[in-house]
Amino acid sequence: MSRRPLVAGNWKMNPASAEEAVALARDVAARVAGLSPLTVLCPPTIWLAAVAEAVTGQQVRIGAQTTAAEESGAYTGETSPLMLRGLAEFAIIGHSERRRLYGETDDDVRDKVASAVAHGIRPIAAVGERLAERHAGRTAEVVERQTRAAIGRLQRIAGTGLVMAYEPVWAIGTGEAATDADAQEASARIRAILAELDPTGAEEVPILYGGSVTADNAGRFFAQPDVDGALVGGASLQAVGFAAIVAAAARVSTR
Ligand code: PGA
Repeated sequence: MSRRPLVAGNWKMNPASAEEAVALARDVAARVAGLSPLTVLCPPTIWLAAVAEAVTGQQVRIGAQTTAAEESGAYTGETSPLMLRGLAEFAIIGHSERRRLYGETDDDVRDKVASAVAHGIRPIAAVGERLAERHAGRTAEVVERQTRAAIGRLQRIAGTGLVMAYEPVWAIGTGEAATDADAQEASARIRAILAELDPTGAEEVPILYGGSVTADNAGRFFAQPDVDGALVGGASLQAVGFAAIVAAAARVSTR
């Protein structure tokens, strides 16, 4: 089955102003116009509305960087999937920075993925091992555990809009990307776990590689059969380089 490539830019806590956010989004939208991959921009929550408006009518889609599981209530600082509806089509869930810095657990990821799906928001569920886990030979175990947790409250995969991202923690922001073979192995493992729940649905899920993706190395990841795109951090803040990554995904999809 052929899956449409998806390239998502995780801006993290950047840029510093609404004006810069809007300018970056417009620049990206202009550069990826006509390219076949699905391009998703994930600005900080506070710039979601401005960025969504800036790219209205263009083919760029919008994602949040996280979401609460709950709809409303006493959750200081949080944004609910109900509030994201209409603004963001996607939400990154379980990014390693959310896990490490804000204490998100596998159970949180499970609840957030289910809640996002229930509210019509496509989760981009991120999994990946830390360096110590990799050195201990536990990569497969960690990826399996986190993947099983992420889909733990879904009845099936088909129709959920689920996107998975394999992001080895040691590769994020370090300039040391995984090898294409490692990315393929982890992605195939993720897909196999999804297939245990829903074999047909598993084939539909875009699985992204994330961790120091650049315009120079993106093509080798996209050439892997189970890698369907990228979750890009640092390189998504430069429109030229980010658009080059989208173009690399487009080249693979038209082979
Ligand atoms: P990076 O970040 O591309 O800067 O390594 C990836 C991510 O955190 O999603």
